[in-house]
Amino acid sequence: MNFQTGISLKPYNTFGLDTRAKLLVEVTDLEMLKRVLKSKEAKENPILLLGGGSNVLLCKDFDGLVIINQIEGLEVISKTDQHVVIEILSGSVWHDTVLHCVQQNWGGIENMSLIPGSVGAAPMQNIGAYGVELKDVFISLKALNLTTLELEEFDHSACKFAYRESVFKRSLKGAYFIHSITIQLTVGEHKTNTSYGDIENTLKEMNINPQDASIKDISLAVIQIRQSKLPDPKVLGNSGSFFKNPIIEEDRFKALKARFPDIKGYPVPTGVKVPAGWLIESLGWKGKRVGNTGSHAKQALVLVNYGEAKGSEIKSLAMEIISSVAATYQIDLTPEVNIIE
Ligand code: EPU
Repeated sequence: MNFQTGISLKPYNTFGLDTRAKLLVEVTDLEMLKRVLKSKEAKENPILLLGGGSNVLLCKDFDGLVIINQIEGLEVISKTDQHVVIEILSGSVWHDTVLHCVQQNWGGIENMSLIPGSVGAAPMQNIGAYGVELKDVFISLKALNLTTLELEEFDHSACKFAYRESVFKRSLKGAYFIHSITIQLTVGEHKTNTSYGDIENTLKEMNINPQDASIKDISLAVIQIRQSKLPDPKVLGNSGSFFKNPIIEEDRFKALKARFPDIKGYPVPTGVKVPAGWLIESLGWKGKRVGNTGSHAKQALVLVNYGEAKGSEIKSLAMEIISSVAATYQIDLTPEVNIIE
């Protein structure tokens, strides 16, 4: 086991924040991870598990042990004429997994093309995009209990998925290491999901009738949409949407609509989902730069690092945005990103 000291975490977080870890180790299989967890270094230090680092805001140096998950692989568990069940190891890159499935013509995750991060992060916050969420294809996952070092299986209901939520962000936070996920995809006949307006428009621009779109077409359309409005973390550090889209009661939405006729909202079973991007843009934050950070010019919900930002600066901007949205709309924005202080 190669414990490195004083390593910069810049390559390990998509915000590109140059914080340091007292100790860092990369693990490539489960047995190695168990050995690391039993080590003196792990017992004597706080631990931070990182996959793709696409959903963390590191506010300062981490005075502990950072474990980088590089446990990768994909296995077909079963296959019929209609479905394929695959198990993917958590350190695999999510987008590479999507491309592999699209290539095989396996349907179900093409709308989630180009989401940054690793497979292990996907169930943590039930990733989603363009009308599809991980929970729609999810069967189960295996996770290592960090106390007993036993692998446990969680079925769909045990994960308590909701919008950008799971049990691993709530009551079981920090208690498990997600080792693999098992999902079911379609084979052959596939009902594509083109319900999200942006997808339909982009397909039309590509001269494809949304009804005839193949899995590959959808993936290409999603990649095009994301590249047109979401900054590439390799170029401009970011972590995708910084905030969740708030869900408010219908009556409150109606009252807001009376005062702010342009406000947008989409009905969901628990109320009305208000695009946080709209709220933030309406208050003049979109494209505004504050020191080394700011709200992205093409997507207000995305906070970016212009190069030299500190995590604490990005957090301060996030807090200012939260206050300004609360002051005008009486809506509390919640960060989607895991803030590590
Ligand atoms: N909007 C604005 N101004 C903006 C951005 C958005 O007014 O600067 C309004 C527009 O009305 C637009 C609506 O918000 O029609 C929705 O915008 P968009 O399609 O860009 O999606 P979003 O709600 O901002 C969510 C997810 C994204 C996901 C997209 C597409 C959350 C927190 N974010 O963003 O996920 O890619 O939908 O499905 O739910 C992520 O989680 O990191 C992420 C990028």
